[in-house]
Amino acid sequence: MNAVARAEAYDRHTGRYGRELSAAFVGFAGIEPGMRVLDVGCGTGTLIARLAQIVGGDRVLAVDPSEAYVQALRERVPGVAVRAGSAEALPFEDGGFDAVLAQLVIQALDDAPAAAREMRRVAAPGGVVAACVWDFRGGMPLLDAYWAAVRALDPDGARDAGDDSADEWCTRDGLRRLWEGAGLADVEIGELAAGADYEGFDDAWFSFAAGAGLSGAYCRSLDEPRRAALREEFRRRLEQPDRRFRLTAGAWAVSGRVPLVHG
Ligand SMILES: C[S@@+](CC[C@H](N)C(=O)[O-])C[C@H]1O[C@@H](n2cnc3c(N)ncnc32)[C@H](O)[C@@H]1O
Repeated sequence: MNAVARAEAYDRHTGRYGRELSAAFVGFAGIEPGMRVLDVGCGTGTLIARLAQIVGGDRVLAVDPSEAYVQALRERVPGVAVRAGSAEALPFEDGGFDAVLAQLVIQALDDAPAAAREMRRVAAPGGVVAACVWDFRGGMPLLDAYWAAVRALDPDGARDAGDDSADEWCTRDGLRRLWEGAGLADVEIGELAAGADYEGFDDAWFSFAAGAGLSGAYCRSLDEPRRAALREEFRRRLEQPDRRFRLTAGAWAVSGRVPLVHG
């Protein structure tokens, strides 16, 4: 898949919820004009666009390991500085940001504790470090129905393909442990909600068939008969009519502050 197709597939996947989720997340994290903000795992740029509206494009930076997303973001939000890099080794100096955010990224990390420590390192003393993740255990109807269908048809394949419902950090308690383990203070947990509109079932299936995310990569790895069986099982579990519908998803959010240095 080329960079443009990959970015479009993501937009029609969970990126479809991005506008509403970003609005709720920046409110939760307390982003205000004048802050210098880093968006970790920026993807195609929904959060960064929101941040740029609040603090100005010259006060936000973005980082993502995917060249395709970095390229898409440069085109979509001109003027915002974006770098290729990973959360576990952020290419920034210590203490340069008033806020460091990661929206829907924790589940994608190989080493979430290292990423949380890095996010803390690049935030200034007193700065805010925040993340949000889908509530994969029953709060995200699209992915819940998809992974339940995969588990029903191919339990081993679901585990190997990266079914996020088992991620130890993507829960209320997991996020709290992650943030406290990184040495952040005043840790708070929030619950966010975001909705997305669909034209019908085919619109919901599109991004899986197009290979978006781990769920889509698994879908693309199947031969035609197995993909068709998965489509039908997913349709059955999604329980939506074949006309316009709206899904609302829940996300857990965590925030903490870099302790002030005394003495
Ligand atoms: C579900 S997308 C979320 C994108 C964006 N934050 C949003 O809210 O739309 C997950 C993002 O995490 C990025 N990612 C994967 N591994 C990463 C890592 N080690 N460090 C930083 N970002 C990573 C992916 O490239 C992708 O852009």
